[in-house]
Amino acid sequence: MRLLILGGTQFLGRAVATHACAAGHDVTCAARGLAGPIASGARFVCVDRDVSNGLEPLARQEFDAIVDVSRHPGQVRRAVAALKRQTAHWTFVSTVSVYADNRTPGQRADTAPLRAATAPEIEDSTEDIYGAAKVACEQAVGEGALICRAGLIVGPEDPTGRFTYWPARLARGGEVLAPGPPDDPVQFIDVRDLAQWIVHAAQARLTGVYDGIGPTLTRGQLMAECAAALGASCTLTWADRAFLEAHDVKRWAGPRSLPLWLPLPDYAGFSTRDVTPARKAGLQLRALSETARDTFDWYRASNGPVAGLTIEEEKDVLAAWHARR
Ligand SMILES: NC(=O)c1ccc[n+]([C@@H]2O[C@H](COP(=O)([O-])OP(=O)(O)OC[C@H]3O[C@@H](n4cnc5c(N)ncnc54)[C@H](OP(=O)(O)O)[C@@H]3O)[C@@H](O)[C@H]2O)c1
Repeated sequence: MRLLILGGTQFLGRAVATHACAAGHDVTCAARGLAGPIASGARFVCVDRDVSNGLEPLARQEFDAIVDVSRHPGQVRRAVAALKRQTAHWTFVSTVSVYADNRTPGQRADTAPLRAATAPEIEDSTEDIYGAAKVACEQAVGEGALICRAGLIVGPEDPTGRFTYWPARLARGGEVLAPGPPDDPVQFIDVRDLAQWIVHAAQARLTGVYDGIGPTLTRGQLMAECAAALGASCTLTWADRAFLEAHDVKRWAGPRSLPLWLPLPDYAGFSTRDVTPARKAGLQLRALSETARDTFDWYRASNGPVAGLTIEEEKDVLAAWHARR
C-alpha cells in the first residue's frame, strides 16, 4: 500500500508508520514535524493543517489508504475535502471518549449512544470538549470509512506516562499503594497491537465503527501480571476511594494521581467495552507481560515520562493509611 498518515510524529501515528514500514508498505507521514521524529523508512511531508491550503503539498499524490489521528474538527474537515476519494481507504482514529454513557458495562461501538458533537463553527478541540470534538470529526469523515475508537493506549514511547507509572513503580519494589478495590476493571491496548490492526484493517479495506481496545482485566490482575513479568518483589496496599480522595490523590492521570484509577460506579462502562467485534475483525493482542516488560525497558533506557504520585507523596499517603483508625 501507499499509506498516508496524517500525523506520524507522535505515539500512535509513529507506531502505525513503524509497523507499516516493517510490513513493506510505502509510508508517508504528513505533519508539521514538531511533535517528534517519524519512523525510520517513512517519508516526511511538511503540512500545516490549521491553514486552509495547508495540505497542498499532498495535492497531486495518490494513496491507497489514509490514516488520520487528528482531534480537531477543522483539520479533519479540510483533510476530507482535500484528500478523501473513492479509491483510498480512510481510517479515522477516534476515542472511547465519544460515548455519552460511562456507567453501563459491556457496551458495543455500533449501538452505544454518543455525546452531542461540538457546534459546526468549532474548529479546534481542547481537553474539555475532546469527546464532543471527536464526534464532530467522525461526522466530518462520514460513511465508507473505518472509525477506530481507541481506548487507553499504552506501551513503549507513551508520552503521557500513565500506564508507565505501574511497571516503574512495581519494579521499584517494597510497599506499593494501589487504588482499591482490586476487582475494579481496567482496559487498555498496547500501541503496537492497535497500530498493527490499523494497518491490517486498511489493507483489508475494513469499514464501520469499532472500539480499538484490549480485554477487561481487574486491577488486581494488572498489578499481579505486571509484577510477575518484571520479577518485582512488592506488597500491595489497597486503599479505598474515600481515603484516597480525602488525601487528595487524583484519579486517572497526571501529578499526584494513581494512574488508571477511575472509581465505580461512575466509570463501570468506561473500562468494560465489548471488544468482540474488533477481535473478529482481526485485532490481535499481545500478552500483558510483554507490554509491561517492554514499557519498563523503554522507560529505563530513555528515562521516559511517568505521571503519578512521587516517591515522597506515596510514602506520605501510605503513612496516613497505616495511621488511620
Ligand atoms: N493516548 C491515548 O491513550 C488515546 C486514547 C484514546 C484515543 N486516542 C487517540 O489516538 C490518537 C493518538 O495519536 P498520536 O499518538 O499519534 O498523537 P496525537 O497527539 O493525536 O498526534 C497528533 C498528530 O497530528 C500532528 N499535527 C498536530 N497539529 C498539526 C497541524 N496543525 N498540522 C499538521 N499536523 C499536525 C502532530 O504532529 P506535529 O505536531 O509534528 O505537526 C501529530 O503527529 C489520537 O487520535 C487520539 O485522539 C488516544
